[in-house]
Amino acid sequence: MALIIDGKAIANNVKAEVKEGSEALVARFGEEARPNMTLVLVGSDPVSKRLVELKTKDCEAAGITPTVISLSETTSEEKLLRLIDRLNNDADVRSILCQLPVPEHISTKKLLAAIAPEKDVDGFSARIDSDDYDIAACTPAAVMRMLKEAGVDVEGKHCVVVGRSNIVGKPMAIQLLLNNATVTVCHSKTVGLAEHTRRADVLIVAAGRARLITADMVKEGAVVIDVGMNYIEGHPVGDVDYDSVEPKASMITPVPGGVGPMTRAYLLVNALKLAERAARGNQ
Ligand code: GUN
Repeated sequence: MALIIDGKAIANNVKAEVKEGSEALVARFGEEARPNMTLVLVGSDPVSKRLVELKTKDCEAAGITPTVISLSETTSEEKLLRLIDRLNNDADVRSILCQLPVPEHISTKKLLAAIAPEKDVDGFSARIDSDDYDIAACTPAAVMRMLKEAGVDVEGKHCVVVGRSNIVGKPMAIQLLLNNATVTVCHSKTVGLAEHTRRADVLIVAAGRARLITADMVKEGAVVIDVGMNYIEGHPVGDVDYDSVEPKASMITPVPGGVGPMTRAYLLVNALKLAERAARGNQ
């Protein structure tokens, strides 16, 4: 029986911390310093729409003012980049989030590069060549906090990350390294995936493939963090085959209610930090 790391409960604590920080910022610098977040949604994908709704609610609960800009599926890349440019240059906009994925005719790379780092609430432009993780990529930061809350110190441990995306896998590996873990990164071209995952003290899975990790791929007593969010017949399913892996793990995150709410909570952490920076800069 594994200890279940309750992302929802930790996220509620994080939200309360951010709310306190937002109100302290307003008390010091006035209402115009209140953190805010502009959320851009392109198209009408129901999952993205729902996530933007949840993020909006999270903002409201944390004393952060949300603004949603919804654009049609056929919005051109040029028009979207012009909007980002306008938001970058609007002094009243403290942070920008463009919900991914965007329609295929828009380059995600160009879009993310267009968001000014000082307004990048996802932390996608966080530097990887220093340990200045003031604004960190949200999912890796969320995972590090969950490990900390669960009392898992990664120093000296063998951490295996499955997935090498720019928004989770790569920054996750960096944050683990910064915390003195020994890190293996596996991906879709890895030969003998199970041999690597079976050596993990801490296994972090962000592959985007439903139930990829089964019990035979996990060491007895491993800590298993499931970043996946896939849908099977409308039901959310992680990248880990929870029912078979849970009895073998010492700790595990559920899906839903694990990393997802924590990633959203860390957006709020970043929104507060960006607003604090802006307020200090305006002094
Ligand atoms: N779509 C799925 N996850 C994310 C995320 O963390 N940030 C953004 N912007 N879009 C997403």
